Amino acid sequence: MRTRAFILVALVLLSNEGMPRAAAEEAAGAVPTRNTLVIQAEGGKSIISRNLYGQFSEHLGRCVYEGIWVGEDSPIPNTRGIRNDVVAALRKIQVPALRWPGGCFADEYHWKDGIGPREQRPAMINTHWGGVVENNHFGTHEFMDFCEQIGAAPCLCGNVGSGTVQEMMEWVEYITSDADSPMANLRRKNGREQPWKLPFLAVGNENWGCGGNMTPEFYADNFRRYNTFVKDYGNNRIYRVACGANVSDYDWTESLMKNVGRRMNGLSLHYYTLPTGDWSHKGSATRFTEAEWHETLRRALDMDELVTRHAAIMDKYDPDRRVGLIVDEWGAWYDVEPGSNPGFLYQQSTMRDALVAGVTLNIFNRHCDRVKMANIAQMINVLQAMILTDKEKMIVTPTYHVFEMYTVHHDATLLPSELKSADYAVGGRKIPDVSASASRDKSGKIHVTLCNLNPNQSAEVDCELQGAKANRLAGRVLTAPEMNAHNTFDQPESVKPADFSAFKTTPAGFTATLPSKSVVVLTVE
Ligand code: AHR
Repeated sequence: MRTRAFILVALVLLSNEGMPRAAAEEAAGAVPTRNTLVIQAEGGKSIISRNLYGQFSEHLGRCVYEGIWVGEDSPIPNTRGIRNDVVAALRKIQVPALRWPGGCFADEYHWKDGIGPREQRPAMINTHWGGVVENNHFGTHEFMDFCEQIGAAPCLCGNVGSGTVQEMMEWVEYITSDADSPMANLRRKNGREQPWKLPFLAVGNENWGCGGNMTPEFYADNFRRYNTFVKDYGNNRIYRVACGANVSDYDWTESLMKNVGRRMNGLSLHYYTLPTGDWSHKGSATRFTEAEWHETLRRALDMDELVTRHAAIMDKYDPDRRVGLIVDEWGAWYDVEPGSNPGFLYQQSTMRDALVAGVTLNIFNRHCDRVKMANIAQMINVLQAMILTDKEKMIVTPTYHVFEMYTVHHDATLLPSELKSADYAVGGRKIPDVSASASRDKSGKIHVTLCNLNPNQSAEVDCELQGAKANRLAGRVLTAPEMNAHNTFDQPESVKPADFSAFKTTPAGFTATLPSKSVVVLTVE
């Protein structure tokens, strides 16, 4: 403590010589930035779907094989081949929905190769991800079992790029039909008597790119054709997701809304945060400057504009907001960890990623009248993962902790709020210091999630609660001394949530002082 105080004084004296005292203290991070938040605690009409907290798992690198599936004979403790440590960790963050089998892999996946006795399943080459041989040991039954074990709703992504209409039609019959029909009987033969529920089906993935390089008009026609044969068997009702835009391709959204309209239930959007914006040099996950920290968060915040503008186009065709915007791939994408297979997209996850997750989830919450599902990429060992494994070892990432802290928003009512944030500027570019969203849960408690994006200064948030009184407050915080703090297999708990008490009630609501680079959840009763 004494050393820190000395450094602080020295900093103020040395580097800010000649500056007014308050400005010098602020520059040294001693003075919190000032921010105000007004929450309409009695308002709120829109529900934050728990599915905004969905995940994505692709046959890519070590996400499925090793991350989820180790096989029944593995020394790693498992239930029917699915690792127990991973299931236990995922149950704690209440994964609502899980997208599978891709991604780009989905449009080269043929589901019939992944059923029946495992040793008889044909192998294939995973052309997108490292050219490795895929043995199809993790198929439909294994995925459905995994979803049941973690309590998530399955979201299948069907093959439009290289698959047939019949194939997609039969997959749905195989999974959901209770009839005495060829596909239902094949499922029974493979050991599953009762049909499963299939709540979500995506009709293709990135069909503007790896899923077939289609034009929006050609894809729209394909969606209409494939979707015609996707049947609702018994009382299963499928929410049909059409392939949506790549980032800011607003023409794609316009064309899909015009040509498909309400034949689809949801329209997807894919957006990844690259610190540099350059796919050939994305930047390191763990070694970065403050300028890269700032730029990464600036780009993550672009999600707000993307959602706003795609939603505005959707509003023209669908003013009642019956078609959901489904952000079924998002997250930070860095250069792979040195020494790892470039096709496996394995990256570490730091405090920076916790902030990327925190601000993005706040954006989704605030747009919950249009955004109905989102799936972070990806669940385990790939991109902005929740979990990293090294054979029998498993750790959770800072991003995992944010998802756990934000579970309070699942299916809660969004409370309208207005934030006036100070600026956090680097190199002449400004982003807000603070990000926030608020909701009221079914028991009446108010939950506020707040992020301080500034890695140097704490942020004071003065919150006015309109229509409610803060009698009792409780909080938790995720923060760390370094921007690139992360968990490793040797130090698995470097970054983890702690109790938070830097708040006090005020006549109007409360004030809270968020540490620099932190994610905070406050519960108000
Ligand atoms: O998540 C990795 C890849 O990114 C997915 O397979 C693809 O859909 C996207 O381009």
